[in-house]
Amino acid sequence: MNVLTEEISELVYGKDTVQALTALADRFPGKIVFSTSFGIEDQIITHFIFSNNLPIRVFTLETGRLFPETYYVWNRTLEIYKKDIEAYFPDTHAVQQLISQKGPSSFYESVENRKECCRIRKIEPLQRALEGAECWITGIRAEQSDNRQGMSQIEWDNNNQLLKFHPIYDWSLDEVWSFTKAHHIPYNPLHDKGFPSIGCAPCTRAVREGEDFRAGRWWWEDTSKKECGLHATETH
Ligand code: ADX
Ligand code: SF4
Repeated sequence: MNVLTEEISELVYGKDTVQALTALADRFPGKIVFSTSFGIEDQIITHFIFSNNLPIRVFTLETGRLFPETYYVWNRTLEIYKKDIEAYFPDTHAVQQLISQKGPSSFYESVENRKECCRIRKIEPLQRALEGAECWITGIRAEQSDNRQGMSQIEWDNNNQLLKFHPIYDWSLDEVWSFTKAHHIPYNPLHDKGFPSIGCAPCTRAVREGEDFRAGRWWWEDTSKKECGLHATETH
């Protein structure tokens, strides 16, 4: 823990989710952002931010390879809350070069190629989206993977040099679903079709009964490598 994470732990201690987000928005005026992939966890946080008019900038990384269902829930979210969601696209030149040299599906060929695509479509745009930010909110939950169990709700992100806060880090999947239903929060219809975790379309499949939460992400790869680098403080 560094001085800032200690200060923020004290600031949010004993507060509910909205109170904690409000306190953080006060503490980091104009420098607090939330990243959404429109997954069910992110939809809950979007709901907290938009329905309470919290001054937190919301952005998404539009990789160019999202599911049609993701665009559907993105549109529903705009219709319901009538607030802005900023879209960050990959650099045109980098994508053109990648596809021209390696074709549209190079990520299946090796972990290096897959990381290259994630770097171009997610990591570089993320760095642009985080420019000037001091606090980054995400929808990560501890239950999502062993890696994530080892994280904490408040952490210092050394790569991006900012504080990360995961407001629903301790929520169970049951809590996520009951909150979503109780508040009529729009969610990605793929969640009802066996997709607990949703990323880019070519790199996400449904999971079978009993399979791990993230088993459908980059399913052709070794389990130990299944992160795209957005959350690089994780140990893997
Ligand atoms: S990933 O690293 O495997 O892709 P995951 O899908 O579990 O991440 O999502 C974890 C958190 O990362 C989300 O709650 C969200 O804050 C952020 N995130 C993931 N994908 C995106 C995206 N395309 N755009 C914006 N934020 C994203
Ligand atoms: Fe590319 Fe797949 Fe990574 Fe999306 S998840 S950026 S398509 S490798």
